[in-house]
Amino acid sequence: MDLGLRGRAAFVTGAGGAIGSAIARQLAAEGAAVAVADIDERAARSVADTLAASGARAVAVCCDVTDAASVREAHRAAVGGIGRTDILVNNAGFNRDANITDMADADWDAVMDVCLRGTFNCTRAMLPGMAENRWGRVVSIASRAALGNPGQTNYSAAKAGVIGFTRALSLEQARFGITANVVSPGLIDTPQLRASPSVDKLLETARRNPVGFIGRPEHIAAPVVFLCSELAAYITGATLIVSGGHFAPSI
Ligand SMILES: NC(=O)c1ccc[n+]([C@@H]2O[C@H](COP(=O)([O-])OP(=O)(O)OC[C@H]3O[C@@H](n4cnc5c(N)ncnc54)[C@H](O)[C@@H]3O)[C@@H](O)[C@H]2O)c1
Repeated sequence: MDLGLRGRAAFVTGAGGAIGSAIARQLAAEGAAVAVADIDERAARSVADTLAASGARAVAVCCDVTDAASVREAHRAAVGGIGRTDILVNNAGFNRDANITDMADADWDAVMDVCLRGTFNCTRAMLPGMAENRWGRVVSIASRAALGNPGQTNYSAAKAGVIGFTRALSLEQARFGITANVVSPGLIDTPQLRASPSVDKLLETARRNPVGFIGRPEHIAAPVVFLCSELAAYITGATLIVSGGHFAPSI
């Protein structure tokens, strides 16, 4: 199946991390050029070098998605390296968990900033070029936690915000040939999950999910790449929950 991604150029945030690097790899495997964007420059460079070694066009860009000026600068660098941006994957994100009465302002702000403001900053910066070309794809990574997880009021609110943001965006941008969709992962086996203080509980939950195994980053990358493709032209404003059939809180 030809996804029509050869010759397209993608900007993937948080692409030095587990899920983002899998998305970058699968986009590159389909022939897209990739700007590997991350606040962790060394991680971004390592992923971009691996992609380039396999014959892909890839450039590492240092980018703090919470800072609009940094995003603009990173976008300029990406365009300098791979020509333009047809596809944006808003993947950078993290959680800072606490029950609400114990939640520090800094933990609320940090999660809202990276997950929600970061999605806004990157999308606003990259849409004009897509609109000019009358073709674009924005795929944002939310989480099954958008449906609610105890101890994650900040993260659940930010990720639910990403879904509302995407619905509005899809309606604004459809006339320019730009689609906007969300992939909402359930538990995914990543170093971040393995480092969580609740890892045993999380793995137990994952084992009880309907498919009977815990997802890997490639299971998120595959639907993201499909939504970035030519074949997904009629899908916009959608949220795809990719959780092995598990919809209940994971903790
Ligand atoms: N791992 C899971 O189980 C899971 C489940 C649901 C949703 N998600 C979401 O998937 C996305 C990727 O998660 P992951 O598990 O790969 O995490 P990860 O920690 O491996 O990767 C996240 C990357 O984002 C980067 N980053 C952090 N702050 C940034 C900033 N301000 N600007 C630019 N980059 C920044 C980090 O350096 C890191 O490389 C996140 O949005 C996360 O919320 C993950």
